[in-house]
Amino acid sequence: MRALTVQPLKPGSAELRDVPEPSPGPGEMLVDGLAVGVCGTDREIVAGEYGWAPAGRDRLVLGHESLGRVLTAPPDSSFAPGDLVVGVVRRPDPEPCGACAHGEFDMCRNGGYTERGIKDLDGYASEHWTVEPGYAVKLDPRLEHVGVLMEPTSVVAKAWDQIERVGRRSWFEPRCVLVTGAGPIGLLAALLGVQRGLDVHVLDVVTDGPKPEVVRALGAHYHSSGIGDVTARAKPDVIIEATGVSAVVFEAMASTAAYGIVCLTGVSPVGRAISVDLGAAGRDMVLENDVVVGSVNANLSHYAAAAGALAEADPEWLARLITRRLPLDRYAEALEAHPADIKVVLEL
Ligand code: BGC
Repeated sequence: MRALTVQPLKPGSAELRDVPEPSPGPGEMLVDGLAVGVCGTDREIVAGEYGWAPAGRDRLVLGHESLGRVLTAPPDSSFAPGDLVVGVVRRPDPEPCGACAHGEFDMCRNGGYTERGIKDLDGYASEHWTVEPGYAVKLDPRLEHVGVLMEPTSVVAKAWDQIERVGRRSWFEPRCVLVTGAGPIGLLAALLGVQRGLDVHVLDVVTDGPKPEVVRALGAHYHSSGIGDVTARAKPDVIIEATGVSAVVFEAMASTAAYGIVCLTGVSPVGRAISVDLGAAGRDMVLENDVVVGSVNANLSHYAAAAGALAEADPEWLARLITRRLPLDRYAEALEAHPADIKVVLEL
């Protein structure tokens, strides 16, 4: 069968290769791959900046944003052939740290976790794949065309969970959220904000293409001015940062309301120094009880929350987030980022 593979840390090594058909181990399911989403992490892996091949091999099957249909499932599992399914990305450290031992592998403390398509485990960008039922999530059959958005939705479900846990340290009744970046993570974070009944503002640099209209269709406000203008007017209780752009990250930290919470979800590039007044920012954080919290990955409870959020969302709005769908053999085009892209999907 065909799989999209890469040699981690070797730039430009992505190749479609013939690999052996997977055979499910005891208790595992065999899945017919339908689609994988392409994200910034995949592009970093292909650029040779990130990623680990499975032990003893030099190539990794890419793909962590999965969608498939169950072909075979163990009779004692809660899955049956034909079910729409998504595979979880992370597995706990085999010698679990405290967090992994408590099912919170998204909070792994010792870095010993593994991740499908990213770290030490083959991903889901292959015509067939296997998965343990305990690390698979069943999706509403109506989500067949958009279910590939499940993994990024799990990431924002975790971000919201973190924000709400931080908020609960004291009285917390947020009314307004600002999301910086109208990519898939930003737009899905905005969706979950609207589902919480909040006044949602989304900031991005583009003024044309699909993003402004997609934000408005959600009932949220789209801005392309400076972050300072938006925060002065909207006074967000919460900022979800989804650009990873250093200057935006710092401005987000410096512009919340008192008792503000900034959740960073974008992975910033390293080595691009900017000059900032950390004293002023730290002073505001102390005097306003502000919090900056980083959030990555998602555990099973976040996948369950994401499945619920997607089932509740308008499937037509979700479909607007997928701006390009390409067959697997056109992977090179999918890996190129275009300015008008929201989510690019490879069909398997
Ligand atoms: C994935 C996460 C993963 C992270 C770091 C992200 O793109 O969505 O699941 O933990 O990369 O590897």
